[in-house]
This record gives sequence, C-alpha cells and structure tokens, in this order.
Amino acid sequence: KSILLINGPNLNLLGTREPHIYGSTTLSDVETNCRAVAASHDCTFDAFQSNHEGAIVDRIQAARGKVDGIVINPGAYTHTSVAIRDALLGVSIPFIELHVSNVHAREPWRHHSYFSDKAAGIIVGLGVHGYKVAVEHVALNFKELEK
Ligand code: DQA
Repeated sequence: KSILLINGPNLNLLGTREPHIYGSTTLSDVETNCRAVAASHDCTFDAFQSNHEGAIVDRIQAARGKVDGIVINPGAYTHTSVAIRDALLGVSIPFIELHVSNVHAREPWRHHSYFSDKAAGIIVGLGVHGYKVAVEHVALNFKELEK
C-alpha cells in the first residue's frame, strides 16, 4: 500500500513560520517522521509540497492508480480551492484532511473548508503530531477509508 502526503502553500516554512501557531518542527522533519510511520506498517510513502494550486492538482492526478491513501494539508487553499477538491474526487483516492492549528479557534473565514465533507477524516489542532496520527490511521485503515 502506498501513502502520499501533500502540503500546500507556505507549509515549506513550517518551523519558522508563526511558530506560536505552527510550532518549531520543520517540514523536512515532519516528512521524515511520516516516512518512518509508513515504513513501520510496510507502506511506501511519498511527500509533496507546493505553493502552486495547479502543481498540487497535477500531483493528485499523477497519483491515480498508484496511491492508496492521501494525507493533505491544503494550507490556505483549504478555504478557496474547488480545483484541488475536484482533483481529489476525480482520482477517487480516499484522503485525510489535516491542519496543524485549530482552524475553528481562529478567524471565521478559516472555519469553512472545501474538503471536509469529502474527507475520510479530519485532524485539526494537534500540531505537527497530527501528521503522524494521520499517516498511521491511513496505514491501518485502508479498507474502511475506501467505503
Ligand atoms: C493550516 C490552516 C490554514 O488556515 C492556513 O492557511 C495554513 C495552515 C494549518 O495547518 O493549520 O496555511 O492549514
């Protein structure tokens, strides 16, 4: 089984970006930790980050038929992107939506997501620890996620 982690805009700055909100762990550390979790469950793992909406759409399309589960933090595209939502639905790969911060405790316009109603599950506000939780959940629950 194969798991893909996707991070959207500005998440390349994890660790240095507003550390009081997003913590001090870098994206590279997050990806290394997730790879180890996936490997411990005999899953292959790939990580992708982009600041560009179209590049994220392209990566999701390329995953069709190759990836069994996606963990995605769409960053600010959470609140704007019909295109990324449509790409995920178009490839029929189950996904977990993840946010480092508790978006519901922040500005009202962060409360709406274009992804939540289609996500197999949502993780918010667990900090970067949420990434490991999400990858482990996907690794253990492929069958249930597909339903
Ligand atoms: C975020 C929350 C979004 O509102 C924000 O635009 C981000 C990060 C999070 O991980 O908490 O870039 O997705």
